[in-house]
Amino acid sequence: MTQTLHDAVGGSPFFARLVHEFYERVWQDDVLRPMYPQDDRAGAEDRFRMFLEQYWGGSTAYSEQRGHPRLRMRHAPFPVDPDARERWLACMRGALDVVDPAPLHRAELDDYFERAATAMLNRNPLIR
Ligand code: HEM
Repeated sequence: MTQTLHDAVGGSPFFARLVHEFYERVWQDDVLRPMYPQDDRAGAEDRFRMFLEQYWGGSTAYSEQRGHPRLRMRHAPFPVDPDARERWLACMRGALDVVDPAPLHRAELDDYFERAATAMLNRNPLIR
């Protein structure tokens, strides 16, 4: 059996740290902060951590608690334009720098987040 990325990077504690470091940066960002639930920071961390764990082959708690991810639909209320996407990715890259996975895993995570963030774009800044 091949090992999942979830297990290879250290399982749940890795994703908990990654998501915590990510949100530390989100709360500092003037464009992203207003989109996120300031009064439910722990809940936001839980949702994102559970999603990532499930995506990378760990616990399926996310779907048990939240149902089908439907991420594009869930992001529709938030204005994700190229600027927001770049800021989001900068928060994630900063978090990844701290948790520092092995180079091969880092490359896989970077690639995934780039593509997923592109898929979340839902506003064209040229058309208002
Ligand atoms: C591109 C810029 C992005 C922006 C501005 C953004 C913004 C947001 C906001 C404001 C929320 C609500 C927070 C909450 O209440 O949980 C959210 C939720 C979430 N986002 Fe994003 N997001 C982005 C990209 C992504 C990407 C790339 C992923 C996946 C890799 C992702 C995964 C999630 C998940 C799993 C949730 C929780 C969904 C749920 O309610 O179950 N987001 N996002």
